[in-house]
Amino acid sequence: MRSFIIAAASLATVAFALPEPMFSGKLARRDATCMSADEANQVALNFNHLISDYSDDSANATLTEGFVDYSDSVISLIDGGCTGPLPLGHPTFDSRASFISGQGSQPNIPFEQLNVWYNCDTVILRWRTTLDFTTPAPEFVTGIIVLETTAAPGNTEQPWLINTVYSEFNSGAWLVDLGTFVPNCTVSSRRLLRA
Ligand SMILES: *[C@@H]1O[C@H](CO)[C@@H](O)[C@H](O)[C@H]1NC(C)=O
Ligand SMILES: *[C@@H]1O[C@H](CO)[C@@H](O)[C@H](O)[C@H]1NC(C)=O
Repeated sequence: MRSFIIAAASLATVAFALPEPMFSGKLARRDATCMSADEANQVALNFNHLISDYSDDSANATLTEGFVDYSDSVISLIDGGCTGPLPLGHPTFDSRASFISGQGSQPNIPFEQLNVWYNCDTVILRWRTTLDFTTPAPEFVTGIIVLETTAAPGNTEQPWLINTVYSEFNSGAWLVDLGTFVPNCTVSSRRLLRA
């Protein structure tokens, strides 16, 4: 699990997109039981910080205890074409405690938020690792994360706690960046990792 994110770990800067509401049907009008744009932005930033600027304190403050994280993109990188250690489709993390012990030992991965959408209790975040495009450059990694939340009435600092995460990204580009994937093109056409 450790090695696949090393390639993006040194990338810098963070940008933010404003959240766009996505209401339909009975959620056509936001009411007091639904999150506001500011609260949606806070949820997106909370998860951003868990990936780009991790601390155990923020994991405890922003995730529910029963937090579950699904990402076959991550599992396929962990497994590297083998049947284990984690079967595809299984949770990447099945509790806040397992997230803390796993994510807490990873290098930070700075990324920019390209889009943020939200409805009553769910925030959708589209992100991309931040790179400068000097040549040669590694391939950038773009992903989409769905953050399902649970209301935390009375919690003035974190009114919406992240309960379930569905996160997928172009893990093939990550394999290229790691040098694991062998490109089928001439050397002059290849993206190369910077020294
Ligand atoms: C996070 O919460 C767990 C139990 O919920 C606790 O054991 C741990 O000490 C907490 N970590 C921090 C940094 O507060
Ligand atoms: C590599 O690229 C060439 C030219 O595009 C193609 O003909 C060939 O099938 C490719 N090989 C593989 C293993 O994809």
